[in-house]
Amino acid sequence: MDSIVEIKGLKKSFINRNNSLFKKNKKINVLKGVDLKIKTGEVYGLVGESGCGKTTTGNIITRLLKEDSGDILYKNERINDIKNKRLKNYRKEVQMIFQDSSGSINPKKTIKWILEEPLKIHGIYDKTSNEYLNDRLEDVGLGKEHLKRYPHELSGGQRQRISILSALILNPKLIVADEPVSSLDVSIQAQILNLLKDLQSNYNLTYLFISHDLNVVSYLSDRISVMYMGKIIETGDVENIMKMPAHPYTKVLISSVPKINRKNNRIIIKGDIPKYNSDIGCDFYSRCPYAMDICKKNDPDEINLEKNHTVKCHLFGR
Ligand SMILES: Nc1ncnc2c1ncn2[C@@H]1O[C@H](COP(=O)(O)OP(=O)(O)OP(=O)(O)O)[C@@H](O)[C@H]1O
Ligand SMILES: [Mg+2]
Repeated sequence: MDSIVEIKGLKKSFINRNNSLFKKNKKINVLKGVDLKIKTGEVYGLVGESGCGKTTTGNIITRLLKEDSGDILYKNERINDIKNKRLKNYRKEVQMIFQDSSGSINPKKTIKWILEEPLKIHGIYDKTSNEYLNDRLEDVGLGKEHLKRYPHELSGGQRQRISILSALILNPKLIVADEPVSSLDVSIQAQILNLLKDLQSNYNLTYLFISHDLNVVSYLSDRISVMYMGKIIETGDVENIMKMPAHPYTKVLISSVPKINRKNNRIIIKGDIPKYNSDIGCDFYSRCPYAMDICKKNDPDEINLEKNHTVKCHLFGR
């Protein structure tokens, strides 16, 4: 299968302004060489704890942020420096859904205005647009009666349906969904996840699905990458990751997914969260239950375990 987006060696740092964990005005390396390859038509899950760099990765792919270095390929073409028309077209094809719909939809405008705006910007608004909008509203489980309402007149779930629709309205190829259900009640989360699943097959979409919640990610994804402190530490098909996790950190993530009837075999994580900028050794060293001497000294290379399953950990490939 062809890749739709590929990133290679992606690096990004920020100057710390107000994160009290780090010194003020100190440079924090947030992405430390991220590689991933999203295949056309798949749901690619990106999971990891808060602050590991998931949103930064998504924002760079959607060009909301500029990387420090690394390559971003779209359909095998490097798009790091595209501008004007090409950038506009890329943004049409690569859309983002955010965690909090209030950030992505204008609270002062009606739903009709919000949904028509992208069509107008791209010069494809005409007299057939009304019918188009009505049909698309049905696709996300809403009706034309919602068009005249304002965002605050909708429930949280309905608002998220609108922000999903505003990402869909231009017929994108890839959707970067950044924690699309995290702000919703658990009962609504399942509805929205099922909607995303249906839309993916009906619209032939590819998703990069970002979440800190492995349960949510594994529900939708074909493949998963686990991110830890700005690096991908394990990638594999969802079944392999869930049933045969290799990296100790992936095991921790899986053992902390609550499941009814599950034996209490949680792995306890020890040590403090290490600081960024630890250039040598494995970033998980100080918390790893299996840490060895080599882990402190050498950054692990990527090892192929089986088909489509890679890990960066010194426990393997010795
Ligand atoms: N604009 C910015 N300026 C300074 N630091 C930033 C900026 N954006 C992100 N960071 C820092 O970069 C790190 C990674 O942030 P990012 O939002 O990518 O994490 P995340 O994995 O999406 O976390 P979460 O699960 O909480 O959404 C964090 O330490 C964050 O504080
Ligand atoms: Mg985030």
